[in-house]
Amino acid sequence: MYRMGKEEIDAVAKVIYSKELFKVNGGDLQETQNFEKELREKLDIDHAVLMTSGFAALQAALTGMGIGPGDEVIVPAYTYIATAMAVVAVGAMPVVAEVDDSLMIDPLDIEKKITSKTKAVIPVHMEGYPCDMDAIMAVAKKHNIKVLEDACQAVGGSYKGRRLSTIGHAGAFSFNFYKNISAGEGGALMTNEKEIFENGLIFHDSCAIAYFGKQMKDFSAEPFCGSEFRTNEITAAIMRVQLTRLDGILEDLRKNKKKLMELLAPYIGFVRSNDPEGECSPKITLKFETKEAAAAFQEKYPEALIPANVGKHVYNDWKVIIEKRGARNPLMNPFNFEANKGFEFPVDACEKSLDILAKHAHIAINPDWTEEEIKAKADGIIAALK
Ligand SMILES: Cc1ncc(COP(=O)(O)O)c(C=O)c1O
Repeated sequence: MYRMGKEEIDAVAKVIYSKELFKVNGGDLQETQNFEKELREKLDIDHAVLMTSGFAALQAALTGMGIGPGDEVIVPAYTYIATAMAVVAVGAMPVVAEVDDSLMIDPLDIEKKITSKTKAVIPVHMEGYPCDMDAIMAVAKKHNIKVLEDACQAVGGSYKGRRLSTIGHAGAFSFNFYKNISAGEGGALMTNEKEIFENGLIFHDSCAIAYFGKQMKDFSAEPFCGSEFRTNEITAAIMRVQLTRLDGILEDLRKNKKKLMELLAPYIGFVRSNDPEGECSPKITLKFETKEAAAAFQEKYPEALIPANVGKHVYNDWKVIIEKRGARNPLMNPFNFEANKGFEFPVDACEKSLDILAKHAHIAINPDWTEEEIKAKADGIIAALK
């Protein structure tokens, strides 16, 4: 979260005074409906559903795709554990694929990891860097599997002019506190596919969807027992204001990133990007020749983060998955399901990725930095590089 202030306070106050906090209501504000409409328009997509988190949106999308026990879903070696846990939450198995020198999922390795059980791949636009969507969509088409874009860290980014989250069959955003626009918590499911939308909508609000308003009018999908990941009008009111701030935040983030990179370019290289224009990255990512060089830099500049060492963002630190603890009750644990029998999650599955991740260092940037602050950042980084 970068910018928040009086506009959000006023929007929340209006909802409180209206006393209409439930998302389906007869009042004038209709914050949830309006947010979803504004998000659809911004992204140029048919359906957008606000929900409680990015995790909820991933799970709703996978459910909407009909994925479950006996299915495999390919996820990158470098992503937050939530991506893989969402796969387990629907009863399927997460198969990890290498990242390439862009630090994003390697389309060539996706193809190597496809089996007769593979139903989908989740490219994750980590740190706002776009994945190689052309290559990923081509592999998915060839093997008839679905693509779910995890754009939880990439709200507002694009790839070759198309918004991240709208290129695959479905996409997920997170609006948690650490994302570029935020209501503290929140998420959204985006799709152009009616089946994913209808089943995802039912899943995220399975108790209320059939009872309040005419949310299932014209639906072909039948209700089923899902979950409750509904949000309230306060979240939507905050997100409506945040959405109006998105372009300004991204413009300033990109401007500051460009300035800092220009100052650093004589001293160090940067990660390869699949689309530098479309990035919405809150980081600049330095590229080193060796792991040792990256580690030595980080020692002198502790603010830097080596992506190989960011805990649950790397597959070899997904302890609950490595230990096959997929649920509290063993009978509910997808790793124990007959349909998933024989599935293994080897910790040495993607050593190439660990090596690549260890040769990079992320440095956080801020859209609100002044020229002086950018210069001071550059001086500090250059001193540590020498
Ligand atoms: C790549 C990625 N996917 C999914 C999530 C889950 O989002 P949330 O925290 O909103 O559930 C996150 C959260 O940080 C994330 O970074």
